[in-house]
Amino acid sequence: MKNAVISSTGLWTPPHSISNEELVASYNAWADNWNRERDADIASGLIEPKTHSSVEFIEKASGIKSRYVMNKTGVLDPDIMAPRIPERPNEQISVMAEIAVNAAREALERAGRKPEDVDAVICAASNMQRAYPAMAIEVQQALGIGGFAFDMNVACSSATFGIQTAADFVRSGSARSVLMVNPEICSGHLNFTDRDSHFIFGDVATAVLVEEESFAPAGHWKILGTKLKTEFSNNIRNNFGFLNRAAPEGIGAPDKLFKQEGRKVFKEVVPMVATMINEHLDELGLQGTDLRRLWLHQANANMNRLISTKVLGHEASADESPTVLDTYANTSSAGSIIAFHKHSEDFVSGDKGLICSFGAGYSAGTVFVEKTA
Ligand code: COA
Repeated sequence: MKNAVISSTGLWTPPHSISNEELVASYNAWADNWNRERDADIASGLIEPKTHSSVEFIEKASGIKSRYVMNKTGVLDPDIMAPRIPERPNEQISVMAEIAVNAAREALERAGRKPEDVDAVICAASNMQRAYPAMAIEVQQALGIGGFAFDMNVACSSATFGIQTAADFVRSGSARSVLMVNPEICSGHLNFTDRDSHFIFGDVATAVLVEEESFAPAGHWKILGTKLKTEFSNNIRNNFGFLNRAAPEGIGAPDKLFKQEGRKVFKEVVPMVATMINEHLDELGLQGTDLRRLWLHQANANMNRLISTKVLGHEASADESPTVLDTYANTSSAGSIIAFHKHSEDFVSGDKGLICSFGAGYSAGTVFVEKTA
Protein backbone atom coordinates (compact mmCIF):
# COMPACT_ATOMS: atom_id res chain seq x y z
CA MET A 1 0.00 0.00 0.00
CA LYS A 2 1.26 3.49 -0.86
CA ASN A 3 1.37 6.41 1.59
CA ALA A 4 -0.97 9.36 1.13
CA VAL A 5 0.01 12.88 2.23
CA ILE A 6 -1.43 16.38 2.09
CA SER A 7 0.73 18.43 -0.28
CA SER A 8 -1.03 21.77 0.03
CA THR A 9 -4.27 23.64 0.68
CA GLY A 10 -6.04 26.62 -0.89
CA LEU A 11 -8.62 29.12 0.32
CA TRP A 12 -10.94 31.55 -1.42
CA THR A 13 -12.85 34.08 0.67
CA PRO A 14 -15.82 36.06 -0.74
CA PRO A 15 -15.30 39.83 -0.88
CA HIS A 16 -18.37 40.75 1.24
CA SER A 17 -18.54 40.43 5.01
CA ILE A 18 -21.62 40.92 7.22
CA SER A 19 -21.15 41.84 10.89
CA ASN A 20 -23.51 40.60 13.60
CA GLU A 21 -24.71 44.20 14.00
CA GLU A 22 -25.70 44.43 10.33
CA LEU A 23 -27.34 40.99 10.32
CA VAL A 24 -29.33 41.61 13.50
CA ALA A 25 -30.50 45.05 12.30
CA SER A 26 -31.90 43.49 9.13
CA TYR A 27 -33.50 40.57 11.00
CA ASN A 28 -35.11 42.95 13.50
CA ALA A 29 -36.46 45.17 10.71
CA TRP A 30 -37.91 42.07 9.02
CA ALA A 31 -39.46 40.90 12.34
CA ASP A 32 -40.98 44.36 12.98
CA ASN A 33 -42.54 44.35 9.49
CA TRP A 34 -43.83 40.80 10.03
CA ASN A 35 -45.42 41.79 13.35
CA ARG A 36 -46.91 45.00 11.89
CA GLU A 37 -48.57 43.03 9.09
CA ARG A 38 -50.15 40.68 11.68
CA ASP A 39 -51.02 43.34 14.24
CA ALA A 40 -54.61 42.23 14.77
CA ASP A 41 -53.81 38.51 15.13
CA ILE A 42 -50.99 39.27 17.55
CA ALA A 43 -53.25 41.61 19.60
CA SER A 44 -55.96 38.94 19.81
CA GLY A 45 -53.40 36.35 20.92
CA LEU A 46 -53.89 34.20 17.81
CA ILE A 47 -50.19 34.29 16.92
CA GLU A 48 -47.01 35.07 18.80
CA PRO A 49 -45.02 38.11 17.71
CA LYS A 50 -41.47 37.63 16.45
CA THR A 51 -38.91 38.72 19.04
CA HIS A 52 -35.70 40.54 18.22
CA SER A 53 -32.38 38.82 17.61
CA SER A 54 -29.38 40.05 19.58
CA VAL A 55 -25.70 40.60 18.81
CA GLU A 56 -24.72 39.70 22.39
CA PHE A 57 -26.60 36.38 22.23
CA ILE A 58 -25.00 35.40 18.93
CA GLU A 59 -21.48 36.08 20.09
CA LYS A 60 -21.92 34.39 23.47
CA ALA A 61 -23.78 31.33 22.14
CA SER A 62 -21.58 30.74 19.09
CA GLY A 63 -18.41 32.84 19.03
CA ILE A 64 -19.41 34.25 15.63
CA LYS A 65 -18.79 37.96 15.01
CA SER A 66 -19.14 38.18 11.23
CA ARG A 67 -19.42 36.02 8.14
CA TYR A 68 -18.43 36.27 4.45
CA VAL A 69 -21.18 35.94 1.86
CA MET A 70 -21.51 35.78 -1.91
CA ASN A 71 -24.26 38.42 -1.90
CA LYS A 72 -24.69 40.95 0.88
CA THR A 73 -27.52 43.18 -0.35
CA GLY A 74 -30.14 40.42 -0.68
CA VAL A 75 -29.34 38.93 2.72
CA LEU A 76 -29.58 42.32 4.45
CA ASP A 77 -32.69 43.60 2.62
CA PRO A 78 -35.64 43.04 5.02
CA ASP A 79 -37.87 42.53 1.97
CA ILE A 80 -35.66 39.74 0.55
CA MET A 81 -33.72 38.03 3.41
CA ALA A 82 -31.87 35.70 1.02
CA PRO A 83 -28.81 35.94 -1.21
CA ARG A 84 -29.57 37.05 -4.73
CA ILE A 85 -27.05 35.22 -6.88
CA PRO A 86 -27.96 35.63 -10.56
CA GLU A 87 -28.58 32.39 -12.43
CA ARG A 88 -25.97 31.74 -15.07
CA PRO A 89 -26.43 30.22 -18.50
CA ASN A 90 -25.31 26.59 -18.82
CA GLU A 91 -22.43 27.72 -21.05
CA GLN A 92 -20.92 29.77 -18.22
CA ILE A 93 -19.03 28.19 -15.31
CA SER A 94 -21.38 27.71 -12.36
CA VAL A 95 -20.82 29.80 -9.26
CA MET A 96 -19.89 26.81 -7.08
CA ALA A 97 -17.38 25.52 -9.59
CA GLU A 98 -15.93 29.01 -9.99
CA ILE A 99 -15.18 29.50 -6.29
CA ALA A 100 -13.83 25.94 -6.05
CA VAL A 101 -11.46 26.71 -8.94
CA ASN A 102 -10.27 29.85 -7.11
CA ALA A 103 -9.33 27.80 -4.03
CA ALA A 104 -7.92 24.97 -6.16
CA ARG A 105 -5.57 27.28 -8.06
CA GLU A 106 -3.96 28.34 -4.78
CA ALA A 107 -3.54 24.71 -3.66
CA LEU A 108 -1.97 23.73 -7.00
CA GLU A 109 0.35 26.74 -6.99
CA ARG A 110 1.49 26.10 -3.41
CA ALA A 111 2.41 22.52 -4.35
CA GLY A 112 4.07 23.64 -7.61
CA ARG A 113 1.63 21.35 -9.40
CA LYS A 114 0.33 21.63 -12.97
CA PRO A 115 -3.26 20.54 -13.72
CA GLU A 116 -1.98 17.70 -15.90
CA ASP A 117 -0.25 16.18 -12.84
CA VAL A 118 -3.61 15.70 -11.10
CA ASP A 119 -5.54 12.45 -11.64
CA ALA A 120 -8.88 13.15 -9.99
CA VAL A 121 -11.12 15.86 -8.55
CA ILE A 122 -13.55 15.38 -5.67
CA CYS A 123 -16.05 18.12 -4.86
CA ALA A 124 -17.01 17.41 -1.24
CA ALA A 125 -19.58 19.89 0.07
CA SER A 126 -22.92 20.28 1.86
CA ASN A 127 -24.60 22.87 -0.23
CA MET A 128 -24.76 21.59 -3.79
CA GLN A 129 -26.32 23.96 -6.31
CA ARG A 130 -27.63 21.27 -8.66
CA ALA A 131 -27.96 17.52 -9.09
CA TYR A 132 -25.73 17.02 -12.14
CA PRO A 133 -23.45 17.22 -14.06
CA ALA A 134 -21.14 17.04 -11.06
CA MET A 135 -19.57 20.33 -10.00
CA ALA A 136 -16.32 18.36 -9.69
CA ILE A 137 -16.37 17.59 -13.42
CA GLU A 138 -16.86 21.28 -14.19
CA VAL A 139 -13.88 22.11 -11.94
CA GLN A 140 -11.87 19.37 -13.67
CA GLN A 141 -12.65 20.87 -17.06
CA ALA A 142 -12.03 24.48 -16.00
CA LEU A 143 -8.57 23.56 -14.70
CA GLY A 144 -7.68 21.18 -17.53
CA ILE A 145 -7.29 18.11 -15.32
CA GLY A 146 -7.55 14.58 -16.79
CA GLY A 147 -8.77 11.41 -15.09
CA PHE A 148 -12.11 11.45 -13.29
CA ALA A 149 -14.18 13.64 -10.98
CA PHE A 150 -17.28 13.35 -8.81
CA ASP A 151 -19.28 15.11 -6.11
CA MET A 152 -19.90 13.81 -2.62
CA ASN A 153 -21.93 15.23 0.24
CA VAL A 154 -21.51 14.34 3.90
CA ALA A 155 -22.68 17.76 5.16
CA CYS A 156 -20.20 19.46 7.51
CA SER A 157 -17.98 16.37 7.46
CA SER A 158 -17.58 16.40 3.68
CA ALA A 159 -13.95 17.56 3.72
CA THR A 160 -12.62 14.86 6.05
CA PHE A 161 -14.65 12.24 4.18
CA GLY A 162 -13.18 13.73 0.97
CA ILE A 163 -9.63 13.54 2.35
CA GLN A 164 -10.06 9.87 3.32
CA THR A 165 -11.61 9.08 -0.08
CA ALA A 166 -8.73 10.85 -1.85
CA ALA A 167 -6.18 9.14 0.42
CA ASP A 168 -7.76 5.73 -0.32
CA PHE A 169 -7.39 6.34 -4.08
CA VAL A 170 -3.73 7.18 -3.50
CA ARG A 171 -3.15 4.27 -1.08
CA SER A 172 -4.65 1.78 -3.55
CA GLY A 173 -2.71 3.22 -6.50
CA SER A 174 -5.76 4.29 -8.53
CA ALA A 175 -4.57 7.93 -8.41
CA ARG A 176 -1.29 9.66 -7.57
CA SER A 177 -2.64 13.17 -7.05
CA VAL A 178 -6.22 14.03 -6.03
CA LEU A 179 -7.64 17.53 -5.75
CA MET A 180 -10.43 17.76 -3.16
CA VAL A 181 -12.47 20.99 -3.13
CA ASN A 182 -15.11 22.34 -0.72
CA PRO A 183 -17.10 25.20 -2.22
CA GLU A 184 -19.68 26.09 0.43
CA ILE A 185 -22.34 28.67 -0.42
CA CYS A 186 -24.14 28.05 2.87
CA SER A 187 -26.07 31.34 2.62
CA GLY A 188 -28.17 29.83 -0.18
CA HIS A 189 -29.50 27.19 2.23
CA LEU A 190 -29.90 29.35 5.33
CA ASN A 191 -33.23 30.73 6.51
CA PHE A 192 -32.36 34.34 7.33
CA THR A 193 -35.85 34.76 8.86
CA ASP A 194 -35.19 32.06 11.49
CA ARG A 195 -33.96 33.81 14.63
CA ASP A 196 -32.45 30.61 16.04
CA SER A 197 -30.12 30.04 13.11
CA HIS A 198 -29.95 33.17 10.90
CA PHE A 199 -26.45 33.97 12.19
CA ILE A 200 -24.86 30.55 11.84
CA PHE A 201 -23.38 30.22 8.35
CA GLY A 202 -21.02 31.92 5.90
CA ASP A 203 -19.68 31.26 2.40
CA VAL A 204 -16.17 30.19 1.36
CA ALA A 205 -14.22 27.67 -0.75
CA THR A 206 -11.27 25.50 0.28
CA ALA A 207 -9.10 22.97 -1.55
CA VAL A 208 -6.79 20.17 -0.40
CA LEU A 209 -4.28 18.35 -2.59
CA VAL A 210 -3.81 14.73 -1.47
CA GLU A 211 -0.88 12.93 -3.11
CA GLU A 212 1.37 9.90 -3.06
CA GLU A 213 4.28 10.52 -0.67
CA SER A 214 7.15 10.04 -3.16
CA PHE A 215 5.49 12.45 -5.62
CA ALA A 216 4.64 15.16 -3.07
CA PRO A 217 6.68 18.36 -2.61
CA ALA A 218 8.98 18.87 0.41
CA GLY A 219 7.28 20.16 3.55
CA HIS A 220 4.13 18.10 3.00
CA TRP A 221 1.91 16.63 5.69
CA LYS A 222 2.02 12.88 6.34
CA ILE A 223 -1.44 11.46 6.91
CA LEU A 224 -0.97 9.31 10.02
CA GLY A 225 -4.51 7.99 9.98
CA THR A 226 -8.06 8.76 8.86
CA LYS A 227 -11.31 7.59 10.38
CA LEU A 228 -14.97 8.26 9.52
CA LYS A 229 -18.20 7.74 11.44
CA THR A 230 -21.92 8.25 10.80
CA GLU A 231 -24.98 7.79 12.98
CA PHE A 232 -28.44 8.78 11.74
CA SER A 233 -30.08 11.84 13.28
CA ASN A 234 -32.81 14.25 12.19
CA ASN A 235 -31.48 17.00 14.43
CA ILE A 236 -29.72 18.79 11.57
CA ARG A 237 -31.68 18.61 8.38
CA ASN A 238 -32.09 20.28 4.98
CA ASN A 239 -34.84 18.93 2.72
CA PHE A 240 -33.61 20.77 -0.37
CA GLY A 241 -34.10 18.43 -3.31
CA PHE A 242 -36.24 17.53 -6.27
CA LEU A 243 -39.45 18.31 -4.37
CA ASN A 244 -38.24 21.86 -3.83
CA ARG A 245 -40.68 24.70 -4.31
CA ALA A 246 -39.81 28.35 -3.85
CA ALA A 247 -42.17 30.08 -1.41
CA PRO A 248 -44.22 32.85 -3.06
CA GLU A 249 -42.25 35.56 -1.28
CA GLY A 250 -39.08 34.10 -2.77
CA ILE A 251 -37.32 33.38 0.53
CA GLY A 252 -37.43 29.63 -0.12
CA ALA A 253 -39.83 27.17 1.50
CA PRO A 254 -38.66 27.03 5.16
CA ASP A 255 -38.65 23.24 5.35
CA LYS A 256 -36.36 23.11 2.30
CA LEU A 257 -33.69 25.11 4.09
CA PHE A 258 -31.29 24.34 6.93
CA LYS A 259 -32.82 23.73 10.35
CA GLN A 260 -31.55 22.16 13.52
CA GLU A 261 -32.19 21.31 17.14
CA GLY A 262 -29.07 23.18 18.20
CA ARG A 263 -29.15 22.14 21.87
CA LYS A 264 -29.52 18.43 21.01
CA VAL A 265 -26.76 18.69 18.43
CA PHE A 266 -24.51 20.23 21.02
CA LYS A 267 -25.26 17.55 23.65
CA GLU A 268 -25.03 14.55 21.33
CA VAL A 269 -22.20 15.51 19.01
CA VAL A 270 -19.63 16.68 21.61
CA PRO A 271 -19.30 13.27 23.34
CA MET A 272 -19.50 11.40 20.02
CA VAL A 273 -16.60 13.39 18.56
CA ALA A 274 -14.45 13.45 21.71
CA THR A 275 -14.77 9.65 22.05
CA MET A 276 -13.99 9.15 18.38
CA ILE A 277 -10.84 11.31 18.57
CA ASN A 278 -9.61 9.58 21.73
CA GLU A 279 -10.23 6.09 20.28
CA HIS A 280 -8.43 7.03 17.07
CA LEU A 281 -5.50 8.45 19.10
CA ASP A 282 -5.29 5.12 20.96
CA GLU A 283 -5.29 3.14 17.71
CA LEU A 284 -2.41 5.25 16.41
CA GLY A 285 -0.46 4.86 19.68
CA LEU A 286 -0.73 8.61 20.32
CA GLN A 287 -1.95 10.74 23.19
CA GLY A 288 -3.70 14.13 23.22
CA THR A 289 -0.48 15.66 24.53
CA ASP A 290 1.34 14.53 21.36
CA LEU A 291 -0.78 16.95 19.34
CA ARG A 292 0.49 20.46 18.82
CA ARG A 293 -2.83 21.66 17.39
CA LEU A 294 -6.45 20.71 16.74
CA TRP A 295 -8.04 22.17 13.61
CA LEU A 296 -11.63 21.50 14.59
CA HIS A 297 -14.83 21.95 12.64
CA GLN A 298 -15.97 25.53 13.08
CA ALA A 299 -19.61 25.38 14.20
CA ASN A 300 -19.57 26.72 17.72
CA ALA A 301 -16.77 28.02 19.94
CA ASN A 302 -18.24 26.43 23.11
CA MET A 303 -18.50 23.04 21.41
CA ASN A 304 -14.85 23.23 20.35
CA ARG A 305 -13.81 24.26 23.87
CA LEU A 306 -15.47 21.14 25.31
CA ILE A 307 -14.13 18.76 22.67
CA SER A 308 -10.56 20.05 22.93
CA THR A 309 -10.68 19.82 26.74
CA LYS A 310 -11.72 16.17 26.50
CA VAL A 311 -8.85 15.47 24.08
CA LEU A 312 -6.02 17.56 25.54
CA GLY A 313 -6.97 17.23 29.22
CA HIS A 314 -7.06 21.01 29.65
CA GLU A 315 -8.84 23.96 28.04
CA ALA A 316 -7.13 24.58 24.72
CA SER A 317 -5.36 27.88 24.10
CA ALA A 318 -6.05 29.78 20.88
CA ASP A 319 -2.75 28.34 19.64
CA GLU A 320 -3.80 24.74 20.40
CA SER A 321 -7.29 25.06 18.91
CA PRO A 322 -7.48 28.10 16.65
CA THR A 323 -10.84 29.54 15.67
CA VAL A 324 -11.90 31.12 12.39
CA LEU A 325 -15.53 31.18 13.51
CA ASP A 326 -15.30 34.80 14.57
CA THR A 327 -14.73 36.07 11.04
CA TYR A 328 -16.02 33.19 8.83
CA ALA A 329 -18.90 31.79 10.96
CA ASN A 330 -19.77 28.15 10.26
CA THR A 331 -18.68 27.37 6.70
CA SER A 332 -19.79 23.75 6.88
CA SER A 333 -17.23 21.31 5.50
CA ALA A 334 -14.67 24.05 4.83
CA GLY A 335 -14.28 25.24 8.45
CA SER A 336 -11.58 22.86 9.68
CA ILE A 337 -9.71 23.29 6.38
CA ILE A 338 -9.73 27.11 6.72
CA ALA A 339 -8.34 26.69 10.26
CA PHE A 340 -5.65 24.29 8.96
CA HIS A 341 -4.81 26.55 6.00
CA LYS A 342 -4.49 29.70 8.11
CA HIS A 343 -2.88 28.21 11.21
CA SER A 344 -0.26 25.68 10.17
CA GLU A 345 2.65 27.73 8.77
CA ASP A 346 4.45 27.64 12.13
CA PHE A 347 4.62 23.80 12.25
CA VAL A 348 8.09 22.24 12.11
CA SER A 349 9.05 18.74 11.03
CA GLY A 350 7.61 16.15 13.42
CA ASP A 351 4.80 18.36 14.77
CA LYS A 352 1.48 16.53 14.80
CA GLY A 353 -2.07 17.80 14.59
CA LEU A 354 -5.64 16.77 13.98
CA ILE A 355 -8.11 17.94 11.34
CA CYS A 356 -11.57 17.03 12.59
CA SER A 357 -15.05 17.73 11.30
CA PHE A 358 -18.55 16.86 12.46
CA GLY A 359 -22.11 17.71 11.58
CA ALA A 360 -25.31 16.55 9.98
CA GLY A 361 -25.91 12.86 9.50
CA TYR A 362 -24.64 12.79 12.23
CA SER A 363 -21.21 12.44 10.69
CA ALA A 364 -17.65 12.94 11.90
CA GLY A 365 -14.17 12.48 10.47
CA THR A 366 -10.65 12.56 11.92
CA VAL A 367 -7.44 13.09 9.94
CA PHE A 368 -4.19 12.99 11.95
CA VAL A 369 -1.27 14.67 10.21
CA GLU A 370 2.47 15.17 10.80
CA LYS A 371 4.55 17.91 9.23
CA THR A 372 7.63 16.82 7.30
CA ALA A 373 10.83 18.74 6.55
N1 COA B 1 -31.03 36.26 19.52
C1 COA B 1 -31.42 36.33 20.81
N2 COA B 1 -31.88 35.26 21.49
C2 COA B 1 -31.95 34.10 20.83
C3 COA B 1 -31.56 33.96 19.47
C4 COA B 1 -31.09 35.13 18.82
N3 COA B 1 -30.68 35.10 17.53
N4 COA B 1 -31.72 32.69 19.09
C5 COA B 1 -32.21 32.02 20.15
N5 COA B 1 -32.35 32.88 21.20
C6 COA B 1 -32.87 32.59 22.54
C7 COA B 1 -33.80 31.38 22.53
O1 COA B 1 -35.10 31.76 22.19
C8 COA B 1 -33.68 30.88 23.95
O2 COA B 1 -34.51 31.66 24.78
P1 COA B 1 -35.31 30.98 25.99
O3 COA B 1 -34.25 30.45 26.90
O4 COA B 1 -36.09 32.11 26.54
O5 COA B 1 -36.13 29.89 25.36
C9 COA B 1 -32.24 31.21 24.33
O6 COA B 1 -31.81 32.23 23.42
C10 COA B 1 -31.32 30.02 24.24
O7 COA B 1 -31.51 29.39 22.94
P2 COA B 1 -30.81 28.05 22.53
O8 COA B 1 -31.21 27.69 21.14
O9 COA B 1 -31.02 27.04 23.60
O10 COA B 1 -29.29 28.57 22.54
P3 COA B 1 -27.96 27.75 22.60
O11 COA B 1 -27.19 28.21 23.75
O12 COA B 1 -28.16 26.28 22.44
O13 COA B 1 -27.18 28.28 21.28
C11 COA B 1 -26.69 27.47 19.05
C12 COA B 1 -27.73 28.08 20.01
C13 COA B 1 -27.34 27.15 17.73
C14 COA B 1 -25.60 28.52 18.84
C15 COA B 1 -26.07 26.22 19.70
O14 COA B 1 -27.10 25.35 20.15
C16 COA B 1 -25.18 25.45 18.78
O15 COA B 1 -24.23 25.95 18.25
N6 COA B 1 -25.46 24.14 18.61
C17 COA B 1 -24.68 23.27 17.77
C18 COA B 1 -24.78 23.75 16.40
C19 COA B 1 -24.06 22.89 15.41
O16 COA B 1 -22.97 22.48 15.59
N7 COA B 1 -24.71 22.66 14.34
C20 COA B 1 -24.14 21.98 13.28
C21 COA B 1 -24.48 22.73 12.09
S1 COA B 1 -23.72 22.02 10.76
